[in-house]
Amino acid sequence: MKLWGGRFTKETNKLVDEYTASIYFDQELAEQDILGSLAHVNMLGKCGILSDKDVQTITGGLKKVAEKIRSGEAAFSVSNEDIHMNIEKMLIDEIGPVGGKLHTGRSRNDQVALDMHLYLREKVVELVGLLIKLQQSFLKQAKENLDTVLPGYTHLQRAQPVLFAHHMMAYYNMFDRDLERLKDGWKRINQMPLGAGALAGTTFPIDREYVAELLHFDGVYENSMDAVSDRDFIVEFLSHASLIITHLSRLSEELVLWSSQEFSFVELDDSFCTGSSIMPQKKNPDVAELVRGKTGRVYGNLIGLLTVLKGLPLAYNKDMQEDKEGMFDTVKTLHGALSLFAPMIETMKVNQTQMKNAVSRDFSNATDLADYLVNKGMPFREAHEVVGKTVLYCIQHNKYLQDLSLDEYREFSSLFDNDIYQAIAIETVVNARDVQGGTARNRVEKQIQLAEQTLIQHNEWWQEHKQKIDVSL
Ligand code: ARG
Repeated sequence: MKLWGGRFTKETNKLVDEYTASIYFDQELAEQDILGSLAHVNMLGKCGILSDKDVQTITGGLKKVAEKIRSGEAAFSVSNEDIHMNIEKMLIDEIGPVGGKLHTGRSRNDQVALDMHLYLREKVVELVGLLIKLQQSFLKQAKENLDTVLPGYTHLQRAQPVLFAHHMMAYYNMFDRDLERLKDGWKRINQMPLGAGALAGTTFPIDREYVAELLHFDGVYENSMDAVSDRDFIVEFLSHASLIITHLSRLSEELVLWSSQEFSFVELDDSFCTGSSIMPQKKNPDVAELVRGKTGRVYGNLIGLLTVLKGLPLAYNKDMQEDKEGMFDTVKTLHGALSLFAPMIETMKVNQTQMKNAVSRDFSNATDLADYLVNKGMPFREAHEVVGKTVLYCIQHNKYLQDLSLDEYREFSSLFDNDIYQAIAIETVVNARDVQGGTARNRVEKQIQLAEQTLIQHNEWWQEHKQKIDVSL
């Protein structure tokens, strides 16, 4: 007999049961569902809707069901459709008909919304912890590479030299915004929908604020139809997740390039690479490649949920059951990627000599040659032209700018003098970018100092919110 079977005269078609059930995947919400029920029943007692005795029996029963689920003893059934009815059924089996009082003043519509908020707020705190670790790994590489220069690229063509520390701090900053976005979204995740009932509220004199307090929510949804209808807090998370994996994917691409024999800028630790079943010499950057590849599913989950929601009339529609698998999948995909990336970056060996060699045999100091002429009074546009011709001359004579004699330079402009060699030396070129956010060593040191302070704040947020989600009833 179904929990909702009263109105029906026939059994549900087996295929319908299988097709409409969500228990295959929403069993992931078992802990959150029971926690929500413990808070709900506690509130029903406090408001005099259930007797203390019933509350005690139901609370005890829910705890037993929780134990059985944790130990793997409990068997979920498709004919009970979803995690909510599976647990309610288990409760009734455990303590008898009084278990049927648990659902007083509640609907699965506000119940499932509550579970999703509880689940996502925990996961976001976990992900923030992992992002902090990733940021620490960039910081470590940055500190160790304040004297490592490599070519900076635009269009993947050598552009201007930068410190490897600067390149690492670029990623640090991207992930810093990602982290800030997660923190900001968390405020909207931590809102309490229960009490909305099916859509209109409930006739029982419940206390929503009390439930919010028990579960450490920051507030309650003001509108019952909104509370059960929207999934924007999930969409927002999926969008934040998409940016995180975009950043990871760009970094992955660089790691793949840098660890190729052609670049040989870095070597990933053996423990983060894999081999080939046929080519004995291979060491492949599989983790980076796979993260780059998994970007597709994370974007897909975002577009999937947006599309589910776009045509739905208020309030709850069964379509919304489709919010879960994508969210679980994105959480797991990010969790895996971030857990691997922090130690992979931390243990990555940077080939400083190879980077230096690259930057000494290229034209990435050409802008500085132009700036040199500008400092001697030539308009920049003219200087650009002169240096362009000088570079062309070098290419035709198989030379680099630093190889030219002063006589050769003077063929291009009489403004050139002996100080030109110092002006286009790699260290000068890097340290000349002495503006806020520039790659000069002292500016990168400043970025690192700032980042260290910020990480202390992130860490405080993380500790505080770990406590907040730690609810035991
Ligand atoms: N399994 C459902 C879901 O995930 C729970 C809510 C069902 N509500 C309903 N009225 N059928 O969305």
